[in-house]
Amino acid sequence: MALPTRVLCPGSFDPVTLGHLDIIGRAVALFGDVLVGVGNNSQKNYLFSLDERVDLVREAVVGLPSVQVEPITGLLTQFCADRHINAVVKGLRFGADFDFELQMAHMNHGLSGLETILLPAAAEHVTLSSTMLREVARYGGDVDRYVPAAVRAAIRRKQAAGDLA
Ligand code: PNS
Repeated sequence: MALPTRVLCPGSFDPVTLGHLDIIGRAVALFGDVLVGVGNNSQKNYLFSLDERVDLVREAVVGLPSVQVEPITGLLTQFCADRHINAVVKGLRFGADFDFELQMAHMNHGLSGLETILLPAAAEHVTLSSTMLREVARYGGDVDRYVPAAVRAAIRRKQAAGDLA
């Protein structure tokens, strides 16, 4: 099979971080066109709604013309089949990521033949996690250096509105 020229970068992006943007940019460099799929993982308790997460990713990739962003509302495999996408690209930080990604990769491949390509996170982002950023932000900490400008503003708005509890 030839390498794909359009791939999906799926994730929760709650919120999108500089680590996610690094993976998206490298997927563009490797494959060309990238669709970012913002989905729901039923085991996660989200800070930002699906619409908010989609808007924040859209703002963050505004300088990357070959990147589009859409919400994933159903199964990832159906979403990809509907768009003739046969590979997803995800970032891999450490062992716990690998265990989870391997399970999802096998499930997605078993469901539809969808391939998963795992890119190692850049050294400077290897311990960065949206979960930890949400926790720090909830207690009023400063996470500015880890997120794009749109997310900084969105976190400030939630902090000011008392919506982070
Ligand atoms: O950033 P995350 O939380 O690892 O992203 C997980 C996500 C949203 C990509 C995954 O939960 C997903 O694909 N959700 C869509 C529904 C689905 O297909 N679930 C089964 C995955 S094996």
